[in-house]
Amino acid sequence: MRFDVITLFPELFGPFLTTGITRRAFEAGQVDVRLSNPRDVALGNYRRIDDRPFGGGPGMVMMAEPLEKILVEIQSQRQDQAPVVLFSPIGKRLDHADIDTWAHSQGAILVCGRYEGIDQRFIDRHVDLQISVGDFVLSGGELPAMVLLDAVARLQPGVLSDQESHQLDSFNPELDGLLDCAHYTRPEVWSEQPVPAVLLSGHHEHIERWRREQRLSITAAHRPDLIEIARQMGKLSPQDEQFLKNMAAARL
Ligand SMILES: C[S@@+](CC[C@H](N)C(=O)[O-])C[C@H]1O[C@@H](n2cnc3c(N)ncnc32)[C@H](O)[C@@H]1O
Repeated sequence: MRFDVITLFPELFGPFLTTGITRRAFEAGQVDVRLSNPRDVALGNYRRIDDRPFGGGPGMVMMAEPLEKILVEIQSQRQDQAPVVLFSPIGKRLDHADIDTWAHSQGAILVCGRYEGIDQRFIDRHVDLQISVGDFVLSGGELPAMVLLDAVARLQPGVLSDQESHQLDSFNPELDGLLDCAHYTRPEVWSEQPVPAVLLSGHHEHIERWRREQRLSITAAHRPDLIEIARQMGKLSPQDEQFLKNMAAARL
């Protein structure tokens, strides 16, 4: 799996690629990330990559020519027809299903915008897909690229030391698509708040049931839409349904 990232600021990726659990995937090439800077192929003494917008207005716009040059260079190195993805507030909001698809893909060429954005003619000619990370505006596409790469890397086999841990994470449709349960660690009492007694009981079955009910109640409180999806997918047992019913009745 190879991700080429087109960015004016490759140095932003340094610590990201070499820190934390995902580092294993990047350093072993399991998720092969290559950084390319359009400035390296821009012409002139100043290697200009942006210019003022036609029609006036504030800010600068990334020019199509250096972006196309670097893209063609990357495409000639790759053996595949990797999709060209632009990070943009216009795009589809990234979710778990998208990440799962990317995690099982050949990779992509990720384009990080800066300034006011990118000359539309480059987008029209080369971009296959636009991705947003939310309804807000960032200064550049680098953080969205890291968001995608991080989420993809942690789904690769062997990246998390305990293979269970991403299975039990929030949004996993193979499990139930629900939100994760609450977690506690030492000390047993902190600031006069004890850990739920069941977690200290050593009774595996009771702990599992408590965690299941936590997932259900947290999801029902914060994302009731996910409960409905789990129900439609047949991921709720009669015991789960009874628990949700009791919860709703207790609220009345
Ligand atoms: C300052 S933003 C440009 C914002 C643009 N003028 C607008 O209002 O939609 C510069 C770049 O950051 C990236 N970016 C900003 N917000 C984003 C978001 N929510 N999702 C994905 N990429 C984003 C895009 O690559 C964008 O071209």
